Amino acid sequence: MKARFPKFDFSNVRAHWAPNKEFAQSYNASSLIPAYVEPFLLKVMRIAREKVNPANTRLIEEIDIFCKQEMQHCKHHIAYNKIFRSQGYEGLKPLEDKIAAEYDDWLKNRSLRFNLAYCEGFESMSAGACEAWFEQFGDLLVGADQAVADLWRWHLAEEFEHRTVCSDVYHELSGLNPIARYFYRVYGFIYAVKHLGTFNKAAASYLLAKDRENMTPEELEASLERQKVLVARIKRSAVPKLLKVLSPFYDPAKRRDPQGLQEFLQEFEQRPAALAA
Ligand SMILES: [Fe+2]
Ligand SMILES: [Fe+2]
Repeated sequence: MKARFPKFDFSNVRAHWAPNKEFAQSYNASSLIPAYVEPFLLKVMRIAREKVNPANTRLIEEIDIFCKQEMQHCKHHIAYNKIFRSQGYEGLKPLEDKIAAEYDDWLKNRSLRFNLAYCEGFESMSAGACEAWFEQFGDLLVGADQAVADLWRWHLAEEFEHRTVCSDVYHELSGLNPIARYFYRVYGFIYAVKHLGTFNKAAASYLLAKDRENMTPEELEASLERQKVLVARIKRSAVPKLLKVLSPFYDPAKRRDPQGLQEFLQEFEQRPAALAA
């Protein structure tokens, strides 16, 4: 686990960055999330870092790497979002303002325990998304724009790398007995799934509705059919991964590396133009 400082050139990227436009828009909707949730994660982790036992130097070092990784993630998603949003999707702003205001409110008014459980819920979702991206969505990435595909590969690979950090912090600082801690973790996870799922669905619906404004009836029918197939496929992939997190024995450390993840990171790090010194 380490911080990486990649460079991406999104200047020529189109919102329809993958041949399956509904898939591209689904992940464009998801790309809005890190711009808001990850600054929130950073703020929660900075508060938590002060409360972690200073003797737990391993966890403190991991929190520091976690924060550096998340900072890079949100920076590059913000850059990408700016480009695709400017291609006729300015109407996303009210949705984005709402989620930003929610996180601000939670930092002021909710307990550290709630915020940590939510963060751990988000991290559990991200580790599952990494598995899907590396092992199940390969065909959807054939012919896709490499910068956007690599933004997601790199981001999700690092999500997988740091998957234990929020969990360890939550376990250290929840202040709950093991049984209550388990139920509260599940509560935070379900809350995050619902909260971010609702946001993602609303953003994707907006993006697809904009695209469909100028479609012929035949194009519209084909788009609706592709979306139906895609939604069913994403659900089939996501449900078993989400159910695993509900187990009292769930431990992010025990997830096995998705196939191709280490190979991708090794290759990505060796690209002279991709990573800053
Ligand atoms: Fe991230
Ligand atoms: Fe993360």
